[in-house]
Amino acid sequence: MWHVLLLNGPNLNLLGTREPDIYGRETLDHIVQRTCDYARSQGIELRHVQSNHEGALIDALHEARAWADGVIINAGAYTHTSIALRDAISAIQLPTIEVHLSNIYAREPFRHISLIAPVCVGCISGFGAESYLLAIHAMSLILAKQAGGDPAE
Ligand code: DQA
Repeated sequence: MWHVLLLNGPNLNLLGTREPDIYGRETLDHIVQRTCDYARSQGIELRHVQSNHEGALIDALHEARAWADGVIINAGAYTHTSIALRDAISAIQLPTIEVHLSNIYAREPFRHISLIAPVCVGCISGFGAESYLLAIHAMSLILAKQAGGDPAE
């Protein structure tokens, strides 16, 4: 099994009721459950952290150095503002995938800039909750390639 940190940033705890026209009606708990189930089928054990606080997200990234093989992150609005998150991702040297429910490039110009994109392997944006499942698929490809085979037990 590979171990991956799933990190969700500010306001994502409100999914289900938050601007459903943009983010859908599915709650974060439900999305995380579906993502964990799919991850397991791909040989990935997910650990989920959601926080509205930049420092807590950075702490979770630092702690991941000790146990994780990769990171999937929806940094919410911190995507567009946080040099500190970018530096943390860069520092921990784990393959990291950026995820967004909405297509950030089809929205307001301030969302077109991602400060974390240059330190991530890639970005999946615009597929609603399915963005997380696509990220799991991408992560399994990255980890399998890195290991040159199947997940170790
Ligand atoms: C988001 C996009 C961000 O611009 C926004 O601030 C969010 C959610 C998304 O998943 O579409 O909080 O990351």
